[in-house]
Amino acid sequence: MRFEGSTDYVATQDLMLAVNAAIALQRPLLVKGEPGTGKTMLAETVAEALGLPLLQWHIKSTTKAQQGLYEYDAVSRLRDSQLGGEHGSRVHDISNYIVKGVLWQAFSAETPTVLLIDEVDKADIEFPNDLLRELDRMEFYVYETRELVKARHRPIVFITSNNEKELPDAFLRRCFFHYIKFPDKETMQSIIDVHFPGLKQALIREALEVFFDLREIPGLKKKPSTSELLDWLKLLVAEDIPPEALRTKDQKAAIPPLHGALLKNEQDVHLFERLVFMARQNR
Ligand SMILES: Nc1ncnc2c1ncn2[C@@H]1O[C@H](COP(=O)(O)OP(=O)(O)O)[C@@H](O)[C@H]1O
Ligand SMILES: [Mg+2]
Repeated sequence: MRFEGSTDYVATQDLMLAVNAAIALQRPLLVKGEPGTGKTMLAETVAEALGLPLLQWHIKSTTKAQQGLYEYDAVSRLRDSQLGGEHGSRVHDISNYIVKGVLWQAFSAETPTVLLIDEVDKADIEFPNDLLRELDRMEFYVYETRELVKARHRPIVFITSNNEKELPDAFLRRCFFHYIKFPDKETMQSIIDVHFPGLKQALIREALEVFFDLREIPGLKKKPSTSELLDWLKLLVAEDIPPEALRTKDQKAAIPPLHGALLKNEQDVHLFERLVFMARQNR
């Protein structure tokens, strides 16, 4: 099984290499990078390209490792025992109240699957450690039913992180690692082409210029990312804004229209306006 890229996702050579290395090693691929650099979309793309089902587990601050394995639904069991009759007869078989988590679904699937554990750094520090054994051995024990669940097929595991927290060493040791670098202009151009085929090159050129200049501003709290650039371009097209309006020769420093798609907090907007103001004074 090899990932050779896809028509609607721009994968650099080193990213494809990392994906295939993780598949060959049968280890989870840990993907880090700024938000919006295509980490989540990578798992979706690989699943589609390899023709495998995708199972997604989106991690929140409250997510526990156990939820990925299974949960015991004690409330339903209690209710059934009170209702009696047909419901009451279910009560004695505890397996009726075991709800499979995403890992179990992946382990019991008929075919290999792609398993995405998205934004692992959202959870508390114990979370990755609690999954070590399951991801390593691809098995776990269900205490309620005294059953050992083993993976029929090893899933291809993607784990993403936005780098909000450090991950434990023991966890890192078991992963293959790839950092998605922020796309350079050329790669970004290809990403835009994928999303907006046939967009006027002049508009793309000007927009890219503004976008990369904006990212260079020192002290920006939140640099705009790929997904924000795509949103902005979509708006520019919808509003029919000509490339000249983004930056004209005589009015060198103008505030780009619809910059709310790019800058997401008032400090950054102020910082940017101040820079534009200063640039005008210096002309
Ligand atoms: N390499 C890429 N090829 C095509 N589209 C991309 C790429 N990287 C980012 N995008 C676009 O940016 C959006 C955000 O990507 P996403 O996977 O959600 O980022 P992340 O999970 O890293 O925050 C995607 O929906 C897609 O439209
Ligand atoms: Mg994501």
